[in-house]
Amino acid sequence: MATRKISFTINGEKVEVSVNEDWTLLKMIRDVLKLKGTKEGCGEGDCGACTVLVDNAPVNSCLVLAVQVEGKEVLTIEGLGTAEKLHPLQQAFIDEGAVQCGYCTPGMILASKALLDANPQPNDEEIKTALSGNLCRCTGYKKIFKAVHSASKCMLQDTQQEEGTE
Ligand code: FES
Ligand code: FES
Repeated sequence: MATRKISFTINGEKVEVSVNEDWTLLKMIRDVLKLKGTKEGCGEGDCGACTVLVDNAPVNSCLVLAVQVEGKEVLTIEGLGTAEKLHPLQQAFIDEGAVQCGYCTPGMILASKALLDANPQPNDEEIKTALSGNLCRCTGYKKIFKAVHSASKCMLQDTQQEEGTE
């Protein structure tokens, strides 16, 4: 299979990577860039464990070819928050007990981020719809939905505080 050099941005950093034309985005992220936070579950687009954001939209990276992200911005869980300062969604998932085995968590959090960026105050139905492609075998979803509500409140408060200090 032919290889190709592609340029794109990952977690805010511009990179150039040689990829086989038949590699999935998931393979490139995990095996070439060694970002192991993105998980492989079904490998067929059914579980959402491999969700990353491409130009702010959630995609199943097992279904997208690496060459398709040429010129785009990719965000994986490693690009969200830091160990010192977690993203409000990461903190809320911990605080609400929405993480058990954690396998679904990176994808859940990235899909939730895309939702909150587009709709800062979603209702239950909107959260359910946004996360319908992300399966969790452990939590029963209630704690995940609660975590998204809680992160939504926290992010709105942060925005209001920032506006107040301007
Ligand atoms: S691993 Fe991609 S959707 Fe399941
Ligand atoms: S926490 Fe285990 S699959 Fe979701």
